[in-house]
Amino acid sequence: MISQETIQQILSRIDIIDIVGSFVKLKKRGVNYLGLCPFHNEKSPSFTVSPTKEIYKCFGCGKSGNSIGFLMELEKYSYVEALKWLANKYNVEIEETEVSPEVKLTQQTADSLYIINSFAQKYFSDSLFNTEEGQDVAMSYLKERGFREEIIRKFQIGYNLSGGKSLATAATAAQYNPENLKKSGLIVNRDDRGMLDNYRGRIIFPIHNQSGKVLGFGARVIKTNDKAPKYINTPENEIYVKSKILYGSYFARMAIDKADECLLVEGYTDVVSLHQAGVENVVASGGTSLTPDQLRLIKKYTNNLTIIYDGDGAGVKAALRGMDLALEEGLNVRLVLIPDKEDPDSYVNKVGAEAFREFVRVNKKDFILFQLEVSLKDAGNDSSQKSQIVNQIAETLSKITKTEEFTRRQDYIKQVSEILKIEESGLNNLVNKFIRDKVTKDEQRSFRSEQPALVIPDGMPEETPMDEVLNLFNRDEMNERAMVRSLLEFGVKKWNEEQSVAEYLFTQIAENELDKMMENKELVNIYELYKTWYNEGLNPNAKSFLYHEDPSINHLVITIMDSNTEISPKWKEHFEGHIPTREDLFREEVTSTLNYLKLRKIKKLIEENQRELEHATNQDEQMLFLQTHQHLKQMEIDLTRQLGTVIIK
Ligand code: GTP
Ligand code: MN
Repeated sequence: MISQETIQQILSRIDIIDIVGSFVKLKKRGVNYLGLCPFHNEKSPSFTVSPTKEIYKCFGCGKSGNSIGFLMELEKYSYVEALKWLANKYNVEIEETEVSPEVKLTQQTADSLYIINSFAQKYFSDSLFNTEEGQDVAMSYLKERGFREEIIRKFQIGYNLSGGKSLATAATAAQYNPENLKKSGLIVNRDDRGMLDNYRGRIIFPIHNQSGKVLGFGARVIKTNDKAPKYINTPENEIYVKSKILYGSYFARMAIDKADECLLVEGYTDVVSLHQAGVENVVASGGTSLTPDQLRLIKKYTNNLTIIYDGDGAGVKAALRGMDLALEEGLNVRLVLIPDKEDPDSYVNKVGAEAFREFVRVNKKDFILFQLEVSLKDAGNDSSQKSQIVNQIAETLSKITKTEEFTRRQDYIKQVSEILKIEESGLNNLVNKFIRDKVTKDEQRSFRSEQPALVIPDGMPEETPMDEVLNLFNRDEMNERAMVRSLLEFGVKKWNEEQSVAEYLFTQIAENELDKMMENKELVNIYELYKTWYNEGLNPNAKSFLYHEDPSINHLVITIMDSNTEISPKWKEHFEGHIPTREDLFREEVTSTLNYLKLRKIKKLIEENQRELEHATNQDEQMLFLQTHQHLKQMEIDLTRQLGTVIIK
């Protein structure tokens, strides 16, 4: 953890014009500054920065926030990463609290590895550009493949001489720690011959992290032969963790954000060639199936992933494997296959940038439907295989569970049932069965592991879904969560002509003092914070809280937004055919959460009134309390009736 003192030092130095100005060209306009918005494509500037309010706001796309929010939004930093970036910029030394010796050692090793890699990268560039061998052997090869000098410099591509000791000698002279040199994978230590270069006579592709530091290298042989592997990569170490790396992400990040699409290719050379052709929203996975960390990295920038692989490569199969995971993460996955034994690199060089773009545009296939077509072709007329396909696709579709994707899933069910020539309702049932199975399994798992304090009441079957159990125990808490969730999800929507949902909730809650009814103080905190942000003119939503520096707040928001959001099964009985989404029902949801809070308040008032009634000293007083009681009871009945028509979970 960064110490509070350091944070204060950093915050006191923050100058939003300076910070935003490092990424956006700003011009002074009156008291504010104006520039082209980095978050969406625009020709005339609508992105303003106010130095006095210390916030930015774009009138084009609506994004707004403070300096730290800007870094988090643009660079996808976490709160702590943004602080570190600022500390570095303003030369504030970071003082960490409670760092164990092991953590400290890891950090030191990581720092050393970054320094060694940076040294090596410069050394390799120098060898490529400024040595005879570099020019004759490596540069000529790169030129022959169509790479121009500008792109070679941008990607910091280099060359390691073939002598076998050149880097080792330079690194030793620079007195780098031999242990760390070995860890970096750049140097190997042979007992008989001492320190030797690991990448001899190879083209070097540095691999950068999200802020442009070199994590490691991919080293390619120049003349492919059977004996040597085509690429040698950095071994796993403190900073090179293959499962978290996407090659090219540093250079692609802004373009992915703007295009709202990430292209995924297999190889280093594919990325570099596409960049050179002006297609910059592209990263490479190295031909293996995507890991959860890599998917998460993509998801920070976009929900649209387009895989561009060569048609017959083993890579496609690998890519197909990871994709259920992508669906679970809510990504829209599309696939483009490059024809005729070409790969993206050779294809873009062959047909040119324009034709390449057009090819991708025209041939982009929905991933799920593509998978279905492939397996249908394989199955032919075999009916048992066909029923297996139905099961498989239903399971795949059941991975699309996010609330906001409800319509998307229903669309798929429709399309898939048409392709398979089966009843839509049948497929729908099957998909729902998979969803139920999974939900039940997950609930049992989390119920057993996380809720040891809850005891299932007698007579309630063990398999009862978690929500029902929770309902029994703590309906009040569920309702408080639902209220906050409504605020986070629908707050900025219009409630009526005058008010947004947030404003409506604020007034209702204030008028009836409902916040005092809420028992979970953390939820009250979120509510208050939301109100502050909202009143400052920001448009808060769940995301605003996800990066809150207080981990308990962001954790709570995550669980609220993640909690089971399936529409209550009772709705399904009410609505034949069209099942409403949460979006359709947001008015009912807001009303019912408010009513529930009001009901709790009334119950409490009834209790208090009853106590006073018991202590009444004369008949007049008694009458008064009785009247109040009747009045409150009537309100209770009305509210209960209203709640009854709006079924809350
Ligand atoms: P070129 O053949 O120079 O165009 O490179 P490429 O990037 O197109 O290579 P290829 O399509 O054969 O492989 C795709 C990616 O898989 C590469 O960029 C590497 O990340 C990885 N890869 C390929 N061969 C090897 C290998 O021998 N070892 C390792 N570790 N990775 C490899
Ligand atoms: Mn290639």
